[in-house]
Amino acid sequence: MEIGFINGEFVDISSPVIPIQERGHQFGDGVYEVVRVYRRVPFLLAEHMDRLERSAHEIKLTVPYSKTELKQIIEEGIQRSDLKEAEVYVQVTRGIAARNHLFPDALPSFTMTVRPIRDVPTNYYKKGVAVYTMEDIRWKYCFIKSLNLLPNILAKQTAIDQGGYEAILVNNDLVMEGSSTNVFVIKDDIVYTTPTVKGILAGITRQKVIDLAKQLNYEVIEDFYSVAFLKAADEVFITSTVVELLPVHSIDNDRIQGVIPGPVMSALSEAYRTTVIQVCKNESVSSQSNE
Ligand SMILES: Cc1ncc(COP(=O)(O)O)c(C=O)c1O
Repeated sequence: MEIGFINGEFVDISSPVIPIQERGHQFGDGVYEVVRVYRRVPFLLAEHMDRLERSAHEIKLTVPYSKTELKQIIEEGIQRSDLKEAEVYVQVTRGIAARNHLFPDALPSFTMTVRPIRDVPTNYYKKGVAVYTMEDIRWKYCFIKSLNLLPNILAKQTAIDQGGYEAILVNNDLVMEGSSTNVFVIKDDIVYTTPTVKGILAGITRQKVIDLAKQLNYEVIEDFYSVAFLKAADEVFITSTVVELLPVHSIDNDRIQGVIPGPVMSALSEAYRTTVIQVCKNESVSSQSNE
């Protein structure tokens, strides 16, 4: 069952609960997180809640719950949904007030949904996906996971309309990230990814993949690289909470040479899967022993 939560109450997900003057939909004045649930356990929840707090702090907003309370709300939502595999979306906005650009004297709004995962077709993981590069027209603070996703939506739709899966956003010929993913390049067994500058979101999956790559003794270089470097890669893949690690087979219709998925990505995907299984097993054991 899909679950909704708004300002302290669990609600039917389809109930019309957002008032007209909610700043989230009038201004996009808020921040959000998406957490993947495996076997009823929210994966890397602490990392996501830390990023939610950081994003909120950057826009001078206070998350209305402590991390312990957030964990309780999310876990109760998962329990109520009875979904083993799910996606949790949480959003904090500057609240409900008469429309005015100035910060209102209002309590922040907190909403959450627990829904089934969006299925990514399995053959995408076997054959890879097409991506298209486009100019990154977003604002300068993409490290904040804000609700303002209009350029991301337009870029993703443009990629889809060309028969692709993801847009790769490029700034002065440098690859920044995907519209909702981070990008990794493998060249001569070295793992490259864009550094966590203010112009990209520091993906939780990105960091996990970097940690795993280092554990597997790959050299990891967090630096900028050009579109030409991307197209000349041995392997390219994109990462996010939702897609995990997804191989790319072509960039602007130029095919990646070599097998898809490549050997480095395959090793990293396997390590990621093992981590998911381990983390979720440990978490469910510790929550049972706390009961
Ligand atoms: C712009 C952008 N970059 C990267 C990511 C990947 O982040 P994460 O791995 O934390 O899901 C997302 C996820 O939604 C995103 O929107």
